[in-house]
Amino acid sequence: MELLDGKKVSNQIKEEITVEVTKMRERGEKVPHLAAIIVGNDGASLTYVGSKVRSCERVGFESTLVQMPSTTSEIELLRKIEELNQDDEIDGFIVQLPLPPQIDTQKVLLAVDPDKDVDGFHPTNFGKMALDMSTFIPATPFGILELLERYKVDTKGKHTVVIGRSHIVGRPMSILMGRKGWPGNSTVTLTHSATKNITQIISQADIVISALGVPNFLKAEMVKDDAVVIDVGITRVADDTKPKGYYITGDVDFENVSKKASFITPVPGGVGPMTIAMLLKNTLLARERHRNANR
Ligand code: GUN
Repeated sequence: MELLDGKKVSNQIKEEITVEVTKMRERGEKVPHLAAIIVGNDGASLTYVGSKVRSCERVGFESTLVQMPSTTSEIELLRKIEELNQDDEIDGFIVQLPLPPQIDTQKVLLAVDPDKDVDGFHPTNFGKMALDMSTFIPATPFGILELLERYKVDTKGKHTVVIGRSHIVGRPMSILMGRKGWPGNSTVTLTHSATKNITQIISQADIVISALGVPNFLKAEMVKDDAVVIDVGITRVADDTKPKGYYITGDVDFENVSKKASFITPVPGGVGPMTIAMLLKNTLLARERHRNANR
């Protein structure tokens, strides 16, 4: 078994980005600037956004955190998005999901300028991704592709089973793994809550990508020998014995599945840190595109 070490690889990527940003500074160019909007006080979302902003500082990006109260109306959020769309200082921004119930997420995602949509959630960018055009690929699937590439995992002709059809992970992942090229060229099955015989389908997978959010869902007896196992689940489980009052766990029974898998991502330290690194990569790309457009 080889560990797909997202912590290590994400640090390498951040080093690579730092080198690029240093060159930009030395040339007297504007450095990338990422903004993040967060609405409300969800603990996990605040943690993620905090990590994103801290990572910006680490690689030398500018960053802006926009915190809005949970009572924010849709129109107030749309106005803020328009402000960031118009602000030439900002190269890319994200609206952290989920949003409070009074806000229509689809309307919000449509309002983001596709050229600043470093999450790759706007239909224009999602469509480009599906059509193999150059675009911002959503950070979590992008991070998984990067891990597969850096560990030289063979995906061609393999059966990839994706568990979960979310717009952020499962759906884009299923498209990307089926694309021509590497990593990709897989035969993909996208499973979800209405899938029949899900355990039988998973048992046929060469590559399992679980984005379900159910702790310990994937057990050793469900996966084939030498399967590649990617765990996208990040669930907080309450535990008074831990300093923070909870611990983080994935969808996979790591202790037992790792004995059978050829490659496996840990949680924490797998897909999570890769997501942040790829968001930074998309922001660097956004800056380079804006620079080239203004030449
Ligand atoms: N919520 C969970 N994952 C993500 C992500 O990648 N981007 C945004 N904006 N919100 C999220």
